[in-house]
Amino acid sequence: MIERTFMMIKPDGVQRGKVGEIIRRIENKGYRIVDIKMVRPTEILLDAHYAEHVGKSFYPSLVAYMTSGPVIAMIGEGTNIVAGWRMLMGATNPTDAAPGTIRGDLGREWQSDAIMNLVHGSDSVTTAKREIELWFS
Ligand code: CMP
Repeated sequence: MIERTFMMIKPDGVQRGKVGEIIRRIENKGYRIVDIKMVRPTEILLDAHYAEHVGKSFYPSLVAYMTSGPVIAMIGEGTNIVAGWRMLMGATNPTDAAPGTIRGDLGREWQSDAIMNLVHGSDSVTTAKREIELWFS
């Protein structure tokens, strides 16, 4: 099924100069980028985006990480892209991510309070709709 998902290159990906490499992997997989922009996320936007993590012990470090620099927000389109993009990203913690995935190949061992893991992808079609509306309206 052709789906859309919300994809993001997080501040560490932009700061470390991995934007081109990550977009190359998205396009090589056959996914289409239908919209893209550079954004400096605000705390208000992040509280909405990460509603399920607000209040968790790691949340303040997550916000500090996510407001440390601009991110690249994208809408991707492709067959089964929601699950496929998560496969391409690899496990949340780069230490555990498989070789061949973005986090497995480009991520660094997790050593801070927030998991700096280069990229984000919606976890379901429903979440994708919500996140696309949040970041692109
Ligand atoms: P992501 O899956 O894109 O969205 C939630 C983010 O919170 C996740 O990436 C990590 O950056 C971070 N995160 C999730 N779980 C933890 C955790 N246990 N400790 C620290 N950061 C986390």
